[in-house]
Amino acid sequence: MADELPIHDLLGEPKLTAIVAGFYARVPADPILGPMYPEGDFEAAEQRLRSFVIYRFGGPPTYLQERGHPRLRIRHHPFRLDRAARDRWMQLMMASIDEQQIAPEHREYLERFFGDIATFLINTPG
Ligand code: HEM
Repeated sequence: MADELPIHDLLGEPKLTAIVAGFYARVPADPILGPMYPEGDFEAAEQRLRSFVIYRFGGPPTYLQERGHPRLRIRHHPFRLDRAARDRWMQLMMASIDEQQIAPEHREYLERFFGDIATFLINTPG
């Protein structure tokens, strides 16, 4: 997209890593999201999301090499992804983002970026 920001360069990889780590630190105890994620394998899941955001925000395409095309709708198909799950995912992600020093316009960009994908991934009414 023409209006995409080079977030990888603007924020840097340590901050992106910290954002994903902060998100995953919240997932296990969450009553909606916790049970969806592979038990005892949060580290691998964290690595997949980290690698995806680094690639998607303009960093090295390691995700593509390791996982191929993201096919996010298909990969989320096994999960019951309704509005509540979508909103909770965003809540945990924004809480993590708010732990980092991030300029308001970058925060807004991240919120729209993650929010649009999260909405697109809804596969269950309710
Ligand atoms: C809307 C609520 C969402 C829920 C409930 C959800 C849930 C999950 C679950 C349970 C997994 C499997 C964990 C694993 O083994 O990797 C997963 C994987 C993944 N999710 Fe989500 N997710 C959501 C939104 C998103 C969003 C907004 C993004 C992108 C910004 C995203 C990107 C990914 C990626 C990249 C993977 C790993 C795919 C792979 O390579 O296998 N998810 N998600």
